[in-house]
This record gives sequence, structure tokens and C-alpha cells, in this order.
Amino acid sequence: METKRDGKKKQTTVITYGTFDLMHEGHIRLLERAKQLGDFLIVGVTSDTYDRQRGKLNVRQSLTERIENVRRTGLADLIIVEEYEGQKVEDILRYNVDIFVIGSDWKGKFDYLSNYCQVVYLERTKGISSTQKRGIVRLGIIGPGRVARRFVQESRFVSGVSVEAVFHPVEAKAREFAQELELAWGGSEWQQFVESVDAVYVATPHHLHVEYALRSLEEGKHVLIEKPLALSRSDAERVFALARQHGLVAMEAIKTAFMPAFRKLIGIALSGTIGDIVYVDATFTKLIPEKGREFDPNLMGGAFTELASYVLLPIARLAGKRKWDAELRFLTKRGQSGVDVWTNVEVIVGSLVGFGKVGLRAKGEGHLVIGGTEGYIYVPAPWWKTSYFEIRREKPSDNRVVSDAFEGEGFRYEIAEFISAIQQGRKPVGLADDDSVWMSWIIERFLRGEGVKEVKS
Ligand code: CTP
Repeated sequence: METKRDGKKKQTTVITYGTFDLMHEGHIRLLERAKQLGDFLIVGVTSDTYDRQRGKLNVRQSLTERIENVRRTGLADLIIVEEYEGQKVEDILRYNVDIFVIGSDWKGKFDYLSNYCQVVYLERTKGISSTQKRGIVRLGIIGPGRVARRFVQESRFVSGVSVEAVFHPVEAKAREFAQELELAWGGSEWQQFVESVDAVYVATPHHLHVEYALRSLEEGKHVLIEKPLALSRSDAERVFALARQHGLVAMEAIKTAFMPAFRKLIGIALSGTIGDIVYVDATFTKLIPEKGREFDPNLMGGAFTELASYVLLPIARLAGKRKWDAELRFLTKRGQSGVDVWTNVEVIVGSLVGFGKVGLRAKGEGHLVIGGTEGYIYVPAPWWKTSYFEIRREKPSDNRVVSDAFEGEGFRYEIAEFISAIQQGRKPVGLADDDSVWMSWIIERFLRGEGVKEVKS
């Protein structure tokens, strides 16, 4: 305790911050030692949004529960919420803090605060962490292709998951991938593969998604299935029925569905901010040379099977249950191999109309517009990597920009949601089984040629 000029003792104020998820001995020991350094302990608990923004995904407990964890220790004199980057300096000034305390895993990171107060790094308690308490999901990949490579790289930013193994019927392909990405196992032995993992990511060409998803579910493994999950309604229903029967998570890997800003967008649009929703207009085009998997009819290639999941996603989410009454119209153009290289779909659901454009051999503006009776929501290209959007109104001065966390390729939010759903024994939030089944049904209708008009090539 230091003495003030007027002779009265000034109390020493200590501050520390953390997530305090699934409270453990390490947290308690840190708080005890922090308390001993002064007379008044302030504990900052990170908000859910801030954790997401700083890339800490997969936190199990809500902010309220985590605050309660800290309160129950009886060590904090004041609990505050840490909501944004840069808040620490403001807190230190506002509360006249003398000592900033944090665990040694942050050594050096907060030296800049020494301009404002004393900075103390306390030795971290060994052998315990929230990450460890949440458990690690061992994940295996089926189909070592381009998307799987990006997936492995992004998974390293999600706590609680470890990609352990990769399967391909051609042994050498799996081995090469495992070596390149430093995975523990790569091979063509199915039984060995499934036994070494808790969950599977199916990243094969489209026509094999269902077969591998069902095989994995039968072995008791959770499944994350690349889009499109299935090419027919009944196949998609089989996948979800088997998952339900075994109490497992089955989720379609449409990364946009799980991006924080996209989830916000859907919530805002549904809450009436732009009035009644009149139309949804989404475009996704990708120019690629006319060869390879995407153009192979035997592998169910084509622009629609490749990209429709993206443009159908906002339509499915905004139409809700009404989507099953949809009237469909397709306009399509085929390429040399016979698959579609450009398709336009119109989905009419009561008073709501969805327009989706996809293309592999024609480029278009990749934006998303949701039009309403009182304004519209605009997401600039590439809207499927949603980081921000604008709510626009008749009077431009009433416009508003909304943003949320977006890091890397955006895959990490999908992986985090899959892992959280497994760990918490719940359904994924952001994409319902019913949405995936509906999208498979639309793809089925297109492949069957129902309501399809062809444009001359
Ligand atoms: N802490 C500690 N010893 C541990 C774990 C955490 O001293 N074994 C400290 C951290 O250094 C930090 C505070 O407790 O000062 C809050 O940390 P938090 O990030 O909430 O806990 P972790 O267990 O590290 O969480 P996670 O595994 O999710 O990163």
C-alpha cells in the first residue's frame, strides 16, 4: 500500500482479465495470487463477441455463466466485462489501477501497459486449461483435395480439435497429404482410419458424400459433409435420420452459414429491420478452365451442384418453413462436357422471391441483396465471405454498416460450430437439417430437369 500526500493510505488496485470458461484450478490460483498483490481486485471477463473477434472460438459457457464462475470464487471485488480491443488502457485509467496481472502464457504481450501501471506476469498453473477441460475432438478427413488442405490449415485456429488422419482409397495420395500437412496417419485402410478418430470431414467429389457420411455414422462418428450434402432429398434425409438414431452430429459444410456477420445478417433481416422481405438476390460465379472434377458429368460436376448451396442458403434461411411450398424455375446453359456452366434459379415462396445465379464459365457481380418494403441489405462481393454488410434506406443518412469477426478463409467458424455441437451434444446453430434437406431437394429437381429451360450454347 502506498501513502498519499495527505497521509491517508491509498489502496492498491489490481486488475486481471480472462475468459474463465469451465472454471478450473489454474484460474483460481491466478485470482488468489492477483488478490494478494493488492487490496482491491478487478476481474475483466471477456464478452462472447470479443472472444470471437480475437479468434477465441469454441468457448463453452455463456458470459453470464463465466461471470458467475468468477463471482463464486469470492476473490473479485469488482467484475467487469471486456468488450473490445483496447479496453484495457481505458479500464486502467478509469479505475486508477496500480497493477495489471496476467498468466505467463501472455509474457511480453502486455508490456505496453507499463506506461500506465505495473505489469506482472504470474506463472501459469501447469497441466490444466479450459481447452483441456473441453476435450479434444480427433478429426479425420476423407478426400485429400484442395478444400481439405485449406480446412486443415484453418482448423489450427480452433481450440478443441486435432486433425489426426486422412483417408483415400489410393494409399499414396493419403500418405502424401498426411506428410505435407503433418498429420499422424494417412492411408487406405478404412477400419484403421475410423478407429483413430471421433469425427469425420467428408471432402470427396459430390457423388460420394452420402456414401461416406453413412459409413462414418454407422461407425459412430460425427460427420461434417462438404456441400452439397446430398443430390436428392431422400439421401439427405437418410443422413440426418441415421445421425439422429445414433445421437451424432451431422452438419453440411457451407462455411458462410456459420460466419458471425452472416448470422447477424439473417437475424437482422428476419427481425423486420428492412420491413417485409420481398426478394433475395445472390450470385456466386467462379471462372475455372473447362476441365477437371467441376466439369465431369460422372462426378456430378456443373455450376449448380458446385455452387448452388451458397445462393440457396440465404433463401432457405429467410423463407423458413414456407420454403417447402417453393415454386421453382431454372434457366441454364450447358458446356462442352454436358454439365451446366451457368444457371439461374428462381425460387418463389409466397410473397418472397429468391434469385440465385451461379456460373463456372461466366463472371458476374458476386453480391447479395435482400430487398424489403422499408430498405435493403447489401453485402458486397464476395458476400459468401461475410465480414460486413450495409442496411440501406430511402434516405442515405439512415444507412448503417454492420460487421463482425472474419479471419483467414472463414472456415474456422464452421469448424468451431461443428466441434461445439459435438462437445455440447446439441444441434449446430446457423444451418438446420431441414435447410440442408431442402437444398438437396432443389438440386434433385434441377438434375431431373424439372422446370428447367435451356439456353442455347
Ligand atoms: N491461467 C493460469 N493457469 C492455467 C490456465 C489459465 O494461470 N492453467 C490464467 C491465464 O494465464 C489467464 C487467466 O488464467 O491469466 C484466465 O485464462 P483463460 O484464458 O480464461 O484460461 P485458459 O484455461 O488458458 O483458457 P483456454 O484454454 O480456453 O485458452
